[in-house]
Amino acid sequence: MEPMVIHSWSAPRSLSTGLMYSFAQRDDMEVLDEPLYANFLRVTGADRPYREDLLSKMESDGNKVVKDIIYGPGSKRYRYCKHIAKQRVPGIGNDLMKKGKHFILIRNPMDILPSFEKVVPPSFLELGLAELVSIYSELCELGNPPAIIDVADLQQDPEATLGRLCEELDIPFQAAMLKWEAGPKAIDGLWAPWWYKSVHKSTGFDPPKKYPLQFPMSLYYLLEQSLPFYNLLKCQVRRRSQPTPELPVPANEKLLAWVGDEILPRDSAKVSVFDSVVQGGDSVWEGLRVYDGKIFKLEEHLDRLFDSAKALAFSNVPTREQVKDAIFKTLITNGMFDNAHIRLSLTRGKKVTSGMSPAFNLYGCTLIVLPEWKPPVYDNTHGITLVTATTRRNSPNNLDSKIHHNNLLNNILAKVEGNNANADDAIMLDKDGYVSETNATNIFLVKKGRVLTPHADYCLPGITRATVMDLVIKENLILEERRISLSEFHTADEVWTTGTMGELSPVVKIDGRIIGDGKVGPVTRRLQGAYKNLTGESGVPIPTSNEL
Ligand SMILES: Cc1ncc(COP(=O)(O)O)c(C=O)c1O
Repeated sequence: MEPMVIHSWSAPRSLSTGLMYSFAQRDDMEVLDEPLYANFLRVTGADRPYREDLLSKMESDGNKVVKDIIYGPGSKRYRYCKHIAKQRVPGIGNDLMKKGKHFILIRNPMDILPSFEKVVPPSFLELGLAELVSIYSELCELGNPPAIIDVADLQQDPEATLGRLCEELDIPFQAAMLKWEAGPKAIDGLWAPWWYKSVHKSTGFDPPKKYPLQFPMSLYYLLEQSLPFYNLLKCQVRRRSQPTPELPVPANEKLLAWVGDEILPRDSAKVSVFDSVVQGGDSVWEGLRVYDGKIFKLEEHLDRLFDSAKALAFSNVPTREQVKDAIFKTLITNGMFDNAHIRLSLTRGKKVTSGMSPAFNLYGCTLIVLPEWKPPVYDNTHGITLVTATTRRNSPNNLDSKIHHNNLLNNILAKVEGNNANADDAIMLDKDGYVSETNATNIFLVKKGRVLTPHADYCLPGITRATVMDLVIKENLILEERRISLSEFHTADEVWTTGTMGELSPVVKIDGRIIGDGKVGPVTRRLQGAYKNLTGESGVPIPTSNEL
């Protein structure tokens, strides 16, 4: 009969022989141990202690192996072929990948490398992780994405992992797969005496060791080169076993962010553990919005970013042109020209050793441009509710709120209070009990036709705040900037907050008090309209790619 062929692809030292023994325990399965090994030795000229013996005893014409042995007739329903990824050398016809069912067995190179040296000197080529990724990618292109299993899962819970694998291969699981006899087997390749000593001692998948072996630092660079390939495949295992949490805007699942001096996919966009932002929240930031091909108030945001960096005594700061270029390139790459928000961060940079001192910052600043599709985040049609936090807003006595830094714990503690009260945000008072702003926005009130906002001594001098103050004057309304107490907010006719992320957000309830008649007020509506017009007609255009 013509058996259904199952191909297992892995790097060496990945429990692939144990897994072959496991499949060999089934009553419906015959197995082949590395049927393409001789072809690999012939084509690559690779040296092995058993090279000549193998070439004389095993078919070394890869295409013959595929046609007559791998896909040849058999006596069982299934045939399992164990392959080491690097054995898929050029010259083998397409049938190998097009036919049969394929799966990939991965193992962290951190666990492979310490025991690798036993037979051949380890190298990137010998590990074959790049080839494993290439097999994955080719099978995906063929419309046949392979199952991937990780040795760590196999060791942790063999039954569940084998069960999942069988399900993906569309074959019934058999409990016999969990145990086998110790010692050499008839199915072993003739290289077994060199490679299979420890697997011959096994009778099943042993639980993982609690602690790893010490990693040989002589293999550090090899680990560095191989790990991304393992992680790329591991990522697929994770995606299948634990679906990512729902994103507020699903389109942001695929986005490209600027980190340092390169544009990277969302999951690879990371900073070093030595970066100042990790070491001490030592970074400055801006939130910017993109409207209809233009970045609103770009120059004002960059002024504040550079002022904040200067106030914190950053050195080796990128130029304004460099920051603008990074922003434009990131937006263009993502095709984000409208309805997008940019979180722009400039950290003091990577340190040469962990610690507080800026004297350790010898690499220059790290620039991050994180763009996302993001409609305004608050309910600007019906309004939001606020509560007053007990956490006071920083005063210039300790950390000046005019510096727009990433050390946001002051605001986050207030936000926790807001979340606990099921409010949209929390009002923060200054050290004397007057209102400063909310944890994330500036705040305005209307009383008897006058518009009031706290002066900027204890709040961030927001760019939306400044824009709205200009609009208040342009709309011929009276503007007052002064200390405002909480009871004035409780008894206001209208209240709204301002910020780039949420624009103008009407506030309909504060600390359980309904503001005005609990609906969006006429002044708020008028200013929302004026703000919308302004964002439509002004801003710095994003250049087209040939202008850059
Ligand atoms: C604490 C705080 N207040 C106010 C704002 C609003 O500032 P802007 O209008 O410049 O976005 C922000 C935004 O970054 C903020 O973090």
